[in-house]
Amino acid sequence: MAERKLLKVLGGQTVFPPPIWMMRQAGRYLPEYKEVRKKAGSFLDLCYNPELAVEVTLQPMRRFAFDAAILFSDILVIPHALGRDLRFEEGAGPMMTPIDENGIDNLDASRLHAHLEPVYETVRRLRRELPQDTALIGFCGAPWTVATYMIAGRGTPDQAPARLFGYKNPKAFARLLDAVAASSAEYLIRQVDAGADALQIFDSWSGVLDEAGFEDWCMRPVREMVRRVRERHPSVPIIGFPKGAGLMYQKYRRNTGVTALGLDWTVPMEEARRLQQDGPLQGNLDPMRLLAGGRALSQGVDKILSSLGHGPLIFNLGHGITPNVPIEHVEAMVKQVREATL
Ligand code: CP3
Repeated sequence: MAERKLLKVLGGQTVFPPPIWMMRQAGRYLPEYKEVRKKAGSFLDLCYNPELAVEVTLQPMRRFAFDAAILFSDILVIPHALGRDLRFEEGAGPMMTPIDENGIDNLDASRLHAHLEPVYETVRRLRRELPQDTALIGFCGAPWTVATYMIAGRGTPDQAPARLFGYKNPKAFARLLDAVAASSAEYLIRQVDAGADALQIFDSWSGVLDEAGFEDWCMRPVREMVRRVRERHPSVPIIGFPKGAGLMYQKYRRNTGVTALGLDWTVPMEEARRLQQDGPLQGNLDPMRLLAGGRALSQGVDKILSSLGHGPLIFNLGHGITPNVPIEHVEAMVKQVREATL
């Protein structure tokens, strides 16, 4: 365990060169992923098939020997496990029936763990198969981000439907966030029971909220989740990724109690250094630099390493890798990080 670099950094140590992994590291930029995806049938079939989910989790590890593997699943398995319909349409992303007040009051957690058992089995198998020095990250979506898809029934550019619903129906919206938070906390606890040694909470849409929304819809439910997870697993490190949180990043860590902050690429290095005074950081290369390659990539990597390498840092992208990234660009990024000196 002591050899897992990612866990050392999450424990507050500075490790250089820093550990590296990529959000969405298993995915369509890998030809071997597309093969398995075809074999699995639908994307959800892949998420609920331990044998295939283990395989696609390990694919990027074989190619790039990242310091951490992330469980292959999706943030929307929680609403699915609570009885909401869900399908992924080619090119259109997730599709659900938009939830209303009646739907919120009928969310059913009674089959939560039965539904998610294949995911726990994937985690158990992964921990057995991964090298000892590799960390295994479990994850879920933050309640606000999960709720945006439940309300709109699909992805939208600015999550206007969920914001509007929250303003018009504050009590029902609070019940929705509480229900998702309670189930998500249990889901994370079971992932740690199964062998995950760190957790990440993806709040991909926290950047569209005003101050009160950020407090009530983003931070409050995450704080409650962190409290519940720590009740069962007091020392498990938790990475919060409130994408687009901007001026609220510092408050987010202090308020929710997450161990580390995942930064998106818009956070300036000077501000990131200030945030690093409070604890570990993860990030924050613009995924478009990875797609561009060449100097745009090497300069971006260099800037992060020279600015943040003197403190606890996990090198990552500022959001998920896009499907069309050439594999050589990922190889070049990993090589540059691994060979870096301060
Ligand atoms: O990081 C990993 O490699 C682990 C797996 C993972 C997936 N989704 C697999 C996936 C993780 C951590 C996620 C998180 C996720 N899912 C988020 C938060 C992070 C983010 O990117 O903002 C969100 C918002 C979702 C919901 C979701 N799932 C959307 C909007 C989409 C469609 C967009 C797209 O890329 O197609 C998905 C589908 C999805 N989740 C894919 C993968 C590999 C692609 C589906 C396919 O293979 O057809």
